[in-house]
Amino acid sequence: MAEANRGFARSVQSEVYRAGLSGERPQVPVDPDALERAAAKALSAEAFAYLAGGAGAERTMAANRAAFASRAVWPRILRDVAERDLSIELLGRRRPSPFVLSPIGVLELAHRDADVAVGRAAAALGVPYVLSNQGSRPMEDVAAAMGEGARWFQLYWSASDELNASFVRRAEASGCEAIVVTLDTHLLGWRTRDLDLGFLPFTRGQGIAQYTSDPVFAELVRERVARGGGGGPRPKVTPALLRSALSIARSGARSPLVDGGVRDALRSPLPRAAIETFLDVFAQPALTWPDLARLREWTSLPVILKGVLHPDDAEHALDHGVDGLWISNHGGRQVDAAVAALDALPAIAERVAGRVPIILDSGVRGGADAVIALALGATAVGIGRPYAYGLAVAGEAGLREVVRNHLAEFDLTMALAGHRTVGGIGPESLRQG
Ligand code: FNR
Repeated sequence: MAEANRGFARSVQSEVYRAGLSGERPQVPVDPDALERAAAKALSAEAFAYLAGGAGAERTMAANRAAFASRAVWPRILRDVAERDLSIELLGRRRPSPFVLSPIGVLELAHRDADVAVGRAAAALGVPYVLSNQGSRPMEDVAAAMGEGARWFQLYWSASDELNASFVRRAEASGCEAIVVTLDTHLLGWRTRDLDLGFLPFTRGQGIAQYTSDPVFAELVRERVARGGGGGPRPKVTPALLRSALSIARSGARSPLVDGGVRDALRSPLPRAAIETFLDVFAQPALTWPDLARLREWTSLPVILKGVLHPDDAEHALDHGVDGLWISNHGGRQVDAAVAALDALPAIAERVAGRVPIILDSGVRGGADAVIALALGATAVGIGRPYAYGLAVAGEAGLREVVRNHLAEFDLTMALAGHRTVGGIGPESLRQG
């Protein structure tokens, strides 16, 4: 995407309308609700439930959308917006737009190319991609597919510090520019849809590729097997077990656990033991503020805390020297009836007063939402579910279209609201209430 541009949005529009003349339609619906419906159609009930669902009665998900709906962009006229500059400064670099791709785990549920497809699309569009701790592909594979594309790594702080340190070291070696520590998921939320289906991808070996490709994790698994705590009695070969062995074997190019492919993966106790080890090690609900200091021993990369919703926590984070804050309620997947991320933003932005960048996600469904978040004090905005839906509906090309549409609508909203630069968007760009 061109940085200073005369009309990114216009070129996208004319491409779409021109193709329409010869009867072609976009690969994915532009309307976000239609996009979600298309993903529902394309996916199994389990996969869609996992991607789309939230915690409890999904009131937080609704609140996220309602928070955007309660703000109004206040357009201004006659301001010469012929040329716009969508770029921002973030973590010491100029970025072509204020968007980043939020970390999303288990993308193999959406498409077999999973994180690798996202990485390629993100690199092509110049949008930083935050690789998930629950990735379906090892971070090294995604990094290789991204070339020079900007990437960060999202860490779930597990119960093993050796493992945490290993993930962070690998992220640094993979060219990740920052570590995003997600702190709202030290336990898995009460996910109604998944519970009703009895479906948790990790128990099937899906979304644990960072673990199965890790040497420290492999050691933990071997120790478990040596203690006699393998997978228990050899399980019956069911379609679910086959899928999990396949999933582990697929990450096997880099896996110190399985080198003999699916057959070995099925016969060996290691894949089952890997899943059990993951389930043991994943949660770390005892973490407190002083623990953060250990991260600084493991890496010199900038550290961003994700899942901040309270201004006092933002203040603590600054006291602990973090480099950025990510305001998010995990898309309503963790606490039901929680505060909307956007509603939490103004008070936090006021407290932070520009000292560190603020990223916001949870409920962003287009370019106008991004304008609203920036006006309320965000530095950058995370796209979540929509890109996973694009991937589900039309693979890499579909997800590219989704991200492109966000960029184009943002460009257009800026222009039509009378803003030439992102810095020109501020509280006065909205009429609130
Ligand atoms: C997530 N999210 C997430 N966050 C994170 O830090 N690590 C992760 O592995 C995941 N995995 C994940 C899977 C799925 C299926 C979803 C939908 C979300 C949360 C994600 O980064 C982001 O905060 C939300 O997606 C934002 O909400 P919306 O805009 O998608 O509703």
